[in-house]
Amino acid sequence: MIKAGVIGWPISQSKSPIIHGYWLDKHGLDGSYEKIALSPDEFSDGIKRLIDDGYAGVNVTVPHKESALAIADNVSDRADNIGAANTLVFQNGKIHADNTDGEGFINNVMQRAPEWNVGAGPALVLGAGGAARAILSALIEAGVPEIILVNRTRSRAENLATHFGRRVVVADWADAAPASVAVSTVVNTTSLGMVGSDPLEFSCANLNPSTLVTDIVYNPLETELLRNAAQQGCATVDGLGMLLHQAVPGFAAWFGVRPVVDETLRQRVLDAL
Ligand code: ATR
Repeated sequence: MIKAGVIGWPISQSKSPIIHGYWLDKHGLDGSYEKIALSPDEFSDGIKRLIDDGYAGVNVTVPHKESALAIADNVSDRADNIGAANTLVFQNGKIHADNTDGEGFINNVMQRAPEWNVGAGPALVLGAGGAARAILSALIEAGVPEIILVNRTRSRAENLATHFGRRVVVADWADAAPASVAVSTVVNTTSLGMVGSDPLEFSCANLNPSTLVTDIVYNPLETELLRNAAQQGCATVDGLGMLLHQAVPGFAAWFGVRPVVDETLRQRVLDAL
């Protein structure tokens, strides 16, 4: 049996076992995928134990994404660029680290809004945390001409602009709505608008109906941002699919089958929220 899992602290909230369990069943594979709770102090030894136990690899989530990079023997370019890993593959006792969040973002948007053209115009990205890093990296790799980046703490946005280069331009939060007139994509990478979080303060009134508006929040599925954007005539993509698509490369590496994100899977995870 091939063994994999997801490590976090806490980990009870993770939906990853539903995703991987669905694909294991669908493909009739002899594999397992479980939640593994490890505190930051236990992380490094815990990984060694999993390797000794014959695990094929793991996903890692908060608060281990940076530590996962630090303990790896090999790091993919994108994980290195983002400064964090969410997927580890164990091979011959060595740890390979990757970050699949950006790929998950792009593949979700392409599946849900196939008409989307990343090169059509600038993107407006709200937020400058870990999720923003992965999404900026993916947008740049996909060929976005420019990114306007806004964040409550402007210095964090400036740090990202320095890291990612000239295509990223920092603006004040107050200028986000005026700037949105001329963008072809808007992405909320913050947790604002999620159940239990503060609302996202962003007016959709200036959006062009051809602008695609995406949110990484998936609970609720339709955030206030997406509702307002839809009223403006914009196509919208919710965040659930990013969670599903980021899981694909890990599953493929551990279990040897590249799975598809289908509606049944989407519904399973939705039912579990
Ligand atoms: P993640 O890894 O999920 O991106 P993070 O690194 O903590 O998490 O980043 C959270 C993002 O949401 C940041 O852009 C944060 O803004 P700050 O850099 O100013 O903290 C943003 N965010 C969180 N709560 C916010 C709030 N109440 N108002 C505005 N922005 C908020």
